[in-house]
Amino acid sequence: MLPYKQIELSLQVAVRAVLPDADVSSVLVRPCDPKFGDYQCNALMALAKARKLNPRQLATDVLAKLEVSAVCETPEIAGAGFLNFRLKNSVIVQALEAALGGAALFIDQATSPKTVVIDFSSPNVAKPMHVGHIRSTGIGDALQRTLRLLGHRVISDNHIGDWGTQFGKLLLGWRQILDREALGRDAISELERLYKVINAECDADPARLESAKAELVKLQAGDAENVAIWKEMIALSQQQFDTIYGRLGVKFDFALGESFYNPWLGAVVADLLTRGVARVSEGAVGVFSDGSLPPKEDPFLVSRDGEWVADPGLVRKSDGGFNYLTTDLATIDYRLKTWAPAEIIYVVDDRQSGHFKKLFLTFARWKNAEAKTTRLVHAGFGKILGDDGKPFKTRSGDTVKLADLLDEAEERALKIVSEKSPEMPAIQRREIARVIGLGAVKYADLLPNRQSDYIFNWDKMLALQGNTAPYLQYAYARIKSIFRKAEAAEAPGHPPSAIILAAPEELALARHLLNFGLTLEAVADELRPNYLCNYLFELAGKFTAFYENCPVLKAGDAAARESRLALCDLTARVLRQGLATLGIETVEQM
Ligand code: ARG
Repeated sequence: MLPYKQIELSLQVAVRAVLPDADVSSVLVRPCDPKFGDYQCNALMALAKARKLNPRQLATDVLAKLEVSAVCETPEIAGAGFLNFRLKNSVIVQALEAALGGAALFIDQATSPKTVVIDFSSPNVAKPMHVGHIRSTGIGDALQRTLRLLGHRVISDNHIGDWGTQFGKLLLGWRQILDREALGRDAISELERLYKVINAECDADPARLESAKAELVKLQAGDAENVAIWKEMIALSQQQFDTIYGRLGVKFDFALGESFYNPWLGAVVADLLTRGVARVSEGAVGVFSDGSLPPKEDPFLVSRDGEWVADPGLVRKSDGGFNYLTTDLATIDYRLKTWAPAEIIYVVDDRQSGHFKKLFLTFARWKNAEAKTTRLVHAGFGKILGDDGKPFKTRSGDTVKLADLLDEAEERALKIVSEKSPEMPAIQRREIARVIGLGAVKYADLLPNRQSDYIFNWDKMLALQGNTAPYLQYAYARIKSIFRKAEAAEAPGHPPSAIILAAPEELALARHLLNFGLTLEAVADELRPNYLCNYLFELAGKFTAFYENCPVLKAGDAAARESRLALCDLTARVLRQGLATLGIETVEQM
């Protein structure tokens, strides 16, 4: 068990001894400013506050019962009632040696794994994936990798938009103006063209709109020909999505599109009506405010001219069609029945936060018991902006297609690699450029707090200096080159196994290495991959300080050299595993 886990468990035992009724699950430690120690626990203050106890007194009482002398120096009470812990050097050494000996890389697997469904990427059929899809796809993938690494059971599900009124127009276009050749060349572009043309015609001519609606009605009624065309549109889109997922290295366990839930939608609405969760209004069926929330927090109300008016969540339109919300309700029901998850995470644009608030509240009113045992979370994210602070567009003002963006990333990276290493064979340069280019785009997207908008900037994300993927990939490759040199200098000996921590830079690096798993846990708890980005950036910084101050290959004696090589090795492994958890590859040489 890692030292911080041992501290946590001992703390929980001590808190229970002092406060037998306390819920100790919040009694955790977090890394802290090295000035104060390695870890800090601030949970006692909340426990004291809830019981109207003096927090410093509670901290004193807990300390009296606390037995952590095996792992730390004497803990200290600080400030209003924090506890600070400083690990014994021998414990740090032991943990590093265990990792060298093949133990998991500073990760303690979850003792009670949970089942989590992650709903992410979810593009719409017949539309190209655009730059915005990098957000849901990258964040969702980083979360699934993190949770899996921690030992949880993850079910990733791509909730593809394969149903909806747009298919009326698409079907009409397919039947009347389809260019087969263009379809063969680039199916999604051709589908996009069909939609644009017919949509414009429908806007201008009500008769066209009626024809499109007629096609939709036929599809909904199961007309064989329309169903076949619709299926072909899905298959063609899926091929392009899969190409992009292949490039990005993203895998899903399921891709149950919206249409998968069609058979249940009628029953969902009927049940909502029977239970009084929804009601008929102007021919449609909707969910309305039940008055239990203050208007400001109530998603079923909007303010208009200073007054709160109803903003229902529609589940059936007046023409009998169903809504996005209906499908999402059926989807939760299906997921609960199929996988019994403890949590469903939706990685979706913050612009849909109103939808998810309505969804979660409706679900709680519909299936109260289930809602209590399943946490539904909207992990929202902000926009990608151009240099002008407006949504990122191409020079001609179109949305940026994801495939084009990835091509450009690789091209730009190739230029940089070719300038740096013109002597390298072209095939190797291209592979390095692929890894750097894709890594740069993914990392730049994961680095900001996910709810913030960020400015897309090629030069910044591809820079070899600063908090970027290329910087981390380079740090990794540089460590690998140390090993290449070490091997060239002598016959490879046994792998290093004994650690000596003498210089302050060695200690700082070692302490940081130990916190890899703890960082992953923070990522999983708050659904924030940026914590891992920052951890890795700090790791690379601490490694640089170590490398500049502690000679490795030229170390004075063999033992120091061994130990330093071992620190290099562990750093490289954590960098590689950390980047992989963000969905980013590494190369051995750059
Ligand atoms: N296809 C939707 C869109 O592009 C996103 C779906 C997100 N997932 C969900 N269960 N609603 O806006």
